Amino acid sequence: MSDDARRIRTAEDVLRYFMACTKAVQLYAPEHPIVARAVEQLAQTLERAHAEAPAVVIGIVDGQVIVDGIALADVHGAADAAARLRAFGIERIAIGRGVAAEELLEFVRGLAAAQAKAEGAGDDLLAALATAHVHVGRLRLQRRGEAGPDDMRAMQHAYQDAVAGAEAIWEQSLAEGGPDPVMATRLVDGLASAVGQNRRAMMALSTLYRYDNYTFTHMVNVSVLTMAQARSLGIDGTLLRQFGLAGLMHDIGKIKTPAEILKKPDRLTEGERAIMMKHPVDGAEMLRRRLELPPLAAVAAFEHHLKVNGTGYPGGVARPELNLATQFVSIADVFDAMRSKRSYQQAFPTDRIMAVLQQNDGSHFEQRLVRRFGQLLGIYPAGNLVRLDDGTLAVVLRVHAPDPSRPMVRVVAGPDGQRLQKPHDVALWVDDGPGGPPPRIVTPVDPAVAGIDPLPYLDEAAA
Ligand SMILES: [Fe+2]
Ligand SMILES: [Fe+2]
Repeated sequence: MSDDARRIRTAEDVLRYFMACTKAVQLYAPEHPIVARAVEQLAQTLERAHAEAPAVVIGIVDGQVIVDGIALADVHGAADAAARLRAFGIERIAIGRGVAAEELLEFVRGLAAAQAKAEGAGDDLLAALATAHVHVGRLRLQRRGEAGPDDMRAMQHAYQDAVAGAEAIWEQSLAEGGPDPVMATRLVDGLASAVGQNRRAMMALSTLYRYDNYTFTHMVNVSVLTMAQARSLGIDGTLLRQFGLAGLMHDIGKIKTPAEILKKPDRLTEGERAIMMKHPVDGAEMLRRRLELPPLAAVAAFEHHLKVNGTGYPGGVARPELNLATQFVSIADVFDAMRSKRSYQQAFPTDRIMAVLQQNDGSHFEQRLVRRFGQLLGIYPAGNLVRLDDGTLAVVLRVHAPDPSRPMVRVVAGPDGQRLQKPHDVALWVDDGPGGPPPRIVTPVDPAVAGIDPLPYLDEAAA
């Protein structure tokens, strides 16, 4: 069965078993075997769906049931179920990974009881139905690519899961001399669907300052930033996942680099550098031998330190041009390496990194791709902490494409560094607001220095 067919089948099963559960709890007592079986089947199907994505969303749009973005008009009874939920005011049910059968039972019972009592539900009633992993709400019509609170949390989980997955693959590769294709493919599938679901949130997570776990966050960040670039060029589906895999595996050859060189806090000596520089060839060898993996991964691993002008390493390799996947991976690689704080260097703000990517007149990177990357990221990517010229600190919420230097921000701390009780949002590009011209960004600020974690601020509804 193709990937798409499998996804549709899973989505249909989620809906069928969900409907079976709601019906069963209306007809039978909760301890009746029919109820137990329906709930168990739903739990099993969700577990299958959660292998692909951190949350399964059942939505009602225009009288149709949509599960994970797939419209399911053909499922018997779907239209009725949609109408009932809609009449009750429910337009969205998000079920997160880790949900247990008992929790599902609790939810469908609560839903049936509430539906039996009331015609329509207010926000309070909807909130009361929620359990640890199940959230109910009115469908918020989000602007494309904009994160809502549930979404942001789901994306955060997806990101953290991916970093843990990258670590598992690294350990497994160390033990077995190369990556396990099934583990790697599964990890990229999850990341690709997270990027597809909410590219902006995943990019924000990938471009935050990090303090630890460099090897594994680097794998995930390069994968996400590679896929984000590819998607902005309209690349999707299988090819997108191949690009993502290339990003994830680009440095896998480093499992052969001795740990004392890999983890050395200071600059490498000439000799150590020579050993480190073997990783593209080693990585390409490992990936090439795993026939289940796309050849693109080996190509990008081999090429990712070559420059478009033919310099770089491995030495002596003439390439008329570098693969597109390689170029996305290299841009993401340099960005993330400079972005991440290593012990021997300070993390660089985005504008400095962009300047590096743009230097040397395109001898290192294809400048059209770098420009695109810059537009995608904004000068100050979402999730950045910045200082404004009135001395306040703000978190970048959203890039304003017409003027990337003036994004939408949330002011979170006063000039004295004290957190504000009530953070407020400012559109920095609006010159004729009631309070006169808005402040301007002076500089990005390292969240560790300011003692402010920007991430929770992305998570809250606009103040
Ligand atoms: Fe590398
Ligand atoms: Fe790298």
